[in-house]
This record gives sequence, C-alpha cells and structure tokens, in this order.
Amino acid sequence: MAETSERVERLVDELTREEKLRLVRGTTDPAGTATGYLPGVDRLDVPEFRLVDGPLGVRAEDERATAFPTALALAATFDPDLAREQGAAIAREAKAHDQDALLAPGTNIVRVPHCGRNFEYYSEDPRLAADLTAGVVEGIQDEDVVATVKHYVANNQEQNRTEVSAEVDERTLRELYLPAFRAAVEAGVGSVMTAYNRVNGTHMSDHRRLVADVLKDEWGFEGYVVSDWYGVESTVGAATAGLDVEMPGVSVTDSRDAPDEADESSSETDVDLGSIDGVPDPTEAGFFGEPLAEAIDEGAVPAERLDDMVARVLGQMERIGLFDGDRGDGALDTPAHRDLAHRIAARGTVLLENDGVLPLDDATDVALVGPNVHEATLGGGGSSETTPFHSVSPREGITSRAEGEVAVARGVPEIEDVSLFDLLPFVGDDAGEESDDAGPDPDPSKDEAVAAAEAADVAVVVVRDATTEARDGDDLRLPGRQDELVEAVADAADRTVVVVNSGGPVELPWRDDVAALLAAWYPGQAHGAALADVLYGDRDPGGRLPVTFAPEDAYPATDESQYPGVDGVADYSEGPFVGYRHFDAADAEPTYPFGHGRSYADFRYGAAEADGDAVRVTVENRAERPGREVVQAYVRPPAAPDGVERPVRELAGAAAVELDGGETSTVEVDLDDLAFARYDPDDGWVTDSGAYAIEVGRSSRDVRTTVRVDR
Ligand code: BGC
Repeated sequence: MAETSERVERLVDELTREEKLRLVRGTTDPAGTATGYLPGVDRLDVPEFRLVDGPLGVRAEDERATAFPTALALAATFDPDLAREQGAAIAREAKAHDQDALLAPGTNIVRVPHCGRNFEYYSEDPRLAADLTAGVVEGIQDEDVVATVKHYVANNQEQNRTEVSAEVDERTLRELYLPAFRAAVEAGVGSVMTAYNRVNGTHMSDHRRLVADVLKDEWGFEGYVVSDWYGVESTVGAATAGLDVEMPGVSVTDSRDAPDEADESSSETDVDLGSIDGVPDPTEAGFFGEPLAEAIDEGAVPAERLDDMVARVLGQMERIGLFDGDRGDGALDTPAHRDLAHRIAARGTVLLENDGVLPLDDATDVALVGPNVHEATLGGGGSSETTPFHSVSPREGITSRAEGEVAVARGVPEIEDVSLFDLLPFVGDDAGEESDDAGPDPDPSKDEAVAAAEAADVAVVVVRDATTEARDGDDLRLPGRQDELVEAVADAADRTVVVVNSGGPVELPWRDDVAALLAAWYPGQAHGAALADVLYGDRDPGGRLPVTFAPEDAYPATDESQYPGVDGVADYSEGPFVGYRHFDAADAEPTYPFGHGRSYADFRYGAAEADGDAVRVTVENRAERPGREVVQAYVRPPAAPDGVERPVRELAGAAAVELDGGETSTVEVDLDDLAFARYDPDDGWVTDSGAYAIEVGRSSRDVRTTVRVDR
C-alpha cells in the first residue's frame, strides 16, 4: 500500500466502488486533446485527469507545441541540467494544453542499433540514461505535471514488441536495464508505464516480481503504474502484479459508437487490427472495468488493491495541486522555449571528424546539398511526433547566417518520413508539419549537386534516415541514394562536410573521404538554426556520442536468437556486454566510440586526483577560442572472483565545463558507490575489494589520465 495523505484517505473512504473503478480505467477525453483520460468524480470534487505524449514535446490532438530535439540529442549533451530545463519546458506546454501527466521520459537502453525507437531513448549506458532521466523527471515535476517514465522494462526492440519475451538474467537487468527506472523513482517520478513486451516469459503488465516486488516494495515507488496503450492482457494478473491504471481503457471499436467520417472510412478496412506487427490489438481493452469488479467479488483480487490503485492516482493529483487548483497556467511556444530547443540541438551536435575545414569563415561560398534541406527533421514516427508552430530548415538556417553565396541542390529524391500512424487503419490522416520553407524541386539532379559543390568553397551535404515506433530498421544504411550522393560530392570537392540526421547509429562508408562529419540526430524545430551555429562556430559542437557507431555486424546482439528472437524469445545472452561494454570486451575497434566528440577548442588534461567520492582533474583550453569539454570518468574494476566477467570499464559520471581560450579549470566528477559495484544474484550489489582504476578522458577510448582508488 502506498503512503497516503489524510485527504486521499478520506476520498478513498467516500468513493463508491463504481467511482473507484472509473478512476483506474481510461476512457475517451471529451475535449479530444489527451492521449489518455480519467474522468473525475464531480460529487467529491475529484478533477478530470489528462495524460499526453510525449518525450520530444506535447502531442495533444490537433494542437501544436515546441518540437524539441530527439532524446538522443539531449543525451549527447551529457547535461542533466539541460534535461531538467527541457522537462520543465515540455511540462509548461502540457499545462498550457490543459494536460496533467506527460507520457515521458522514455528511457529504454539502446541495445540493438536498428531499434525504431532509439531516437526516443537516451543511451546504451545506464549511468548516462539514469542521469538524463532524473533530470527530465525533476524538470517535468517541478512544474506540477506528473512525469511517466517508460517503458518498464526491457522494451529494446520494436519488431514483435507486443509479443517478444526478453530472456534476461537478474544481473543484467540490475546492471543495465533497471538503473534508469530506479533513478526516476529516486527523483520522485509520479508514474511508471509498463512495456508491451514480456520479460522471462511474463507480460510486463502482469509482472508481479518486477512491478509489485522490485518497483514498489524494494524501491518504494509511491506513484501509479499505468499500462502502455492496449498493453494489458489480463484482469487478475495485472491487478495483482501491481498495475494501477489501464490505458486507454476503451477499445477502438467502443470509441466508434458515434461514427463520424474518420470512423466510416476506417470501418471500410478489412485489416485484422490485432495482426499488425509492432501494433497492440486495439480491440482488446476494458480489463479494469466490470471484469475487475467481478474479480474482486470472486476474491481473486483483494478489495484493498482497488483502494491502493485509487489512492496512488489521487496522490499524484494532490501532489501536482489539482485539488487546490494552484498549478499555474503553463506557457506555449515562448521565446525561451524556442531558444531552449535551439540550444539543445546545437549542444547535442557531435563533431565526429574535422580536418580543419570547420568552423566555416563567414564569407565562404557554400553548396548546400541534400534531399531534405528544405525541411527541419523533427523526429521519428509514432507517439512522440510533435507539430511545431515554427521550424527552421537547413536551407533557411544556412542562408540566413552565411555572408558568402549559398547554392542549394537536393541531388537525390526526398527521404520521406515513416510513421506508426500510417500503419494504423483506425487513425485519420495526420496533417503533419508544414515547413516554413518552400517545398522541394520536383526533380533533383545529382550532377547539379556535384557542379554546385565544385563551384563553391565548401560543400555541406545533409543526409538522414527515417525511423519510427513499431518498426525496426532493416539495416544501418542511409536510405535512398544518399551514400551515392555523398561519394559523388566528396569526389568533386575536397572540402566536403557531411551532416547526418539519424535516429541512432548509421553506417558511414565514405567517412574517410570527407573533410568533416557531424552527427546531429533529429534536431527538432530549430534544425537549421542550430546547424548554422555549429558550422560557423557561433557555438562549439558540445555533443558526445551517447551510443557507439560501428558497422551493423560488429554490434553484440547479432545472432537471430538474440535479436529479433526465435519463437517469440529474444535471448539477452550478451548479458551486460551491450554498447561499449561489448566493444571493450571483444577488443574490437568501433567506427566512433561511446563518448567521442571533437571540439573547435583544444583541451589538455592535468593528472587526475581521487578520493572515494569524487575524481578531480584540471582541464586547460589551449585554443584561442572558447569551447565546451565533457570530462568523462570511467571505472575499471579489479578482476572479480570466480569467473564473473565484468566490463573493462563503465561510465561513472561526467561533468561539462565551458572554458574561454587559455582558461584552466578544475572539474569534479562524483563517484557514487554503485560505480564500483556489481550485482550478484545471491548477495545483491557487492563491491569487491581491490584497486580500481579511474580513467578520465574525452571518450571511452580516449583516456587522458588515470588514478587508482582502493576499495
Ligand atoms: C507507446 C507509448 C505512448 C502510447 C500513447 C504507445 O504506442 O508505446 O510510448 O505513450 O502509445 O500514445
């Protein structure tokens, strides 16, 4: 049972069972804006409660909001304070749209590089994911909106996501997949969303051990657990496992009771709604309505469980001030929000390579090439799609910043967005975002792009992938003829800069032939403005890779049994050796390692000093220009007893510093106890005694100074 206030306790006493049941099962929002809705109880002044997507900005139905950069871009900043700012801004926009809970942040670990939702998540590393998650949760909740951390847990692929069982051992769960959720609980998160998948055979909404035992009893989570949409499979199983709220609660067929145009067109389709891979069956809902009442009557679910569900929901309503109506109005599309979206996009941009061509001189003549330079790349497809009020395309961003000539040539046909919603026959046409820029030329020519590149001082080629929730990518290649375009331009122009907008790692077969290379993720509405900042050096490219870049077959889960799984089972047999933990253990060279990212400045590290709680190092900016350094500390453990294989190194923490040219500063990175520990299935977290090396440097593969700590 959750701790409750007097008011909540009184309400639980006064509510009828009918009323209680209505507070734990979603229904259709009469205002039509929310993603999920709980009706209030007028009689007792319990307010209505609206839940809305999502991690990159508010997705209220038919409404606009600031489209922030994708979660991976935020993670690339390695900056929990910025995460907090972003969380708070999205929450203010949610309030402005009259929403009470945000279905964000998403924090599943990037296990497979082709997962269609990697763009919505933070990292392959649990420490970085935990720090960003906590920042976003705190920011959202500082604004009196409930944060919903999702998808609990091991939802690491979209293919077969509603069926697959992640077979994962306890140590791996604890060391890799659970920490970000635990960090959310420690940050006071109000809600946790269960994942669609199974873990070790049990569906997550029925997973008593992970929900009731670990999340609630062990970690002391006091908020409510909500299902993913159409992600409930049983009444008794879910209620006794600790699920508190079913969403959306009504089936797509129920919500068609009053047909309108969209309904008529969708009822014409003969698609079996339950059979689309990656899409839950939307005709299956209502497990917590009458069936829950019956289960209580039959004694299969204790009546106190319903009281606890209700108390948890009411507790969050109370915490955000809904009973007292003192939440403030929120704010939408303010100059501060536009500026924040712009700053995160620039700071999350990772400079992978630079032979000196960047930053560009103001007077440079630029050939701007790429199939989608006329539009901002907002995000991937699915429940995180946000429609902004305003956006800046690369073409607009560069033309307004450049003092030299800018010639624009798309080169190859446009790469079209893909979206989960296109797979759903019951969803009407999404209007989508119209760019502020004019549309593309109908018939792009590669020769024209090459000629423009030859004539200019520098060619900037902007390429992208297209990913969506509910579908994993087939491979890590850039779609369409973009590789061919880059090769042709790089062949013609020595000074070729390539900007990659992607939802995760992609293969870059031409990377040795280009002069500079940037990973800019899906940058959101400020795409072109942030790009111009970084290209012209108005801001240092502050980003560092939150995921390893490597060829597809070099990643760990390459066997079919591991991904996508055989007979509905994905065997996480690689254990904790995901991301750089795998590349280090295999002694394999990635294309670009975790943590990598260049600066326009030049940093020199002094010798690190450490005590048990923190490591300190002086960093000098030897360049004449300012720059932002992300100092990373990794712990290299001593050999563990009895054949326990530990990662070579694990990120313990990071701290960023902005330094003017010539400036020196001491940077401190905290080392918490878990940075040294490993999870033992019998003994829990244990720290082996011995000498630990603390490696401090610019990436997981660029260690600048090492210091020993005894434990
Ligand atoms: C997604 C969730 C999302 C929900 C509501 C599901 O398809 O997995 O992340 O919050 O839909 O849109």
